[in-house]
Amino acid sequence: MKAVTFKNQQILITEVPEPDCGSEDLLVKVCSAGINAADILQKRGLYPAPAGIPQNIPGLEFSGTVVKVGRKTSGFSPGDRVTGIVGGGAQAELITIHYSNALIVPDSVNLVDAGGFSETYLTAYDALVRQAGLQMGEKVLINGAAGGVGLSAVTIAALLNTRVTASARHVEHHQHLKTLGATPVLPEDVSKNAPYDVVLELVGGINMEQNISNLSDDGRISVIGIGAGAKSEIDLRLVMSKRARIFGSTLRARTTQSKAGLINEARTKLIPLLDQGKLPITIAGRFDFNEAESAYESFSTPGKLGKILLVF
Ligand SMILES: NC(=O)c1ccc[n+]([C@@H]2O[C@H](COP(=O)([O-])OP(=O)(O)OC[C@H]3O[C@@H](n4cnc5c(N)ncnc54)[C@H](OP(=O)(O)O)[C@@H]3O)[C@@H](O)[C@H]2O)c1
Repeated sequence: MKAVTFKNQQILITEVPEPDCGSEDLLVKVCSAGINAADILQKRGLYPAPAGIPQNIPGLEFSGTVVKVGRKTSGFSPGDRVTGIVGGGAQAELITIHYSNALIVPDSVNLVDAGGFSETYLTAYDALVRQAGLQMGEKVLINGAAGGVGLSAVTIAALLNTRVTASARHVEHHQHLKTLGATPVLPEDVSKNAPYDVVLELVGGINMEQNISNLSDDGRISVIGIGAGAKSEIDLRLVMSKRARIFGSTLRARTTQSKAGLINEARTKLIPLLDQGKLPITIAGRFDFNEAESAYESFSTPGKLGKILLVF
């Protein structure tokens, strides 16, 4: 099969062996795979795949059609349309996934676009709902709102009937954020709607000082992205006096079992909403996988709105 591979920080399209379908795995013919910041870091040699995951094939999320099911799987058959998260290897013509980490794509959803669903919506749901416990009526700030995770977070927060402020530095993205149910602001204006009960940090350390001063009492900050820096100086007096809680998380390194817990919640809470058209997948660009280099360049160019997909 063909796959996107990294060698010496270069992107190649390479002939690689097909993956083995274990007894608890699904073998999936990939339809599309989203590009994520983790792939960019892996290309630069900074974020190696976890043990047991192909080291040279990037890709954390995909959509596709099941071609084979392991004998110890349940709930899936050949021909099923699926999406899922993996530790790597999704940017290839075939992939295997533990059946507990896969989700059925509703018939109402375009299978190409579904390749941009899992990493963004699962990350956003996990951070806002499972970690930060976002509640109806609360005020939430999403920093980095025009990216894949940000748009998903805005959508989920708006569906929860919270008051959503979406910070995005390109004013041309603000109308789209408004359509999703948020009040858009430029990063320099986030204080105007403070205090916030919850802050979702997708940009990095440069925002942390402001996040804490804009936090309400008993507020929560969920740190998910550090593309603009991992370090920050924060005033611990404010952390104490506001009874603040700061969470952090990564999805990739979690065990299959831990991911399955999140996938199970997504199966009952997110997939019905996806089916009803309430979880839009905003696509900034679709590229044939042979054009992976252009796709990666497009992902890394500031100003995109939503996901970049590789189509197989
Ligand atoms: N922890 C996890 O499990 C997990 C899972 C998925 C993603 N992530 C991380 O979460 C972050 C967001 O992911 P994503 O897929 O949404 O990425 P993305 O699509 O590239 O979006 C990132 C957004 O942040 C904005 N941004 C970047 N630097 C900024 C700055 N200095 N000031 C203001 N805005 C800035 C970008 O704007 P421009 O277009 O102008 O650059 C873009 O809109 C990434 O760092 C990613 O690595 C973590």
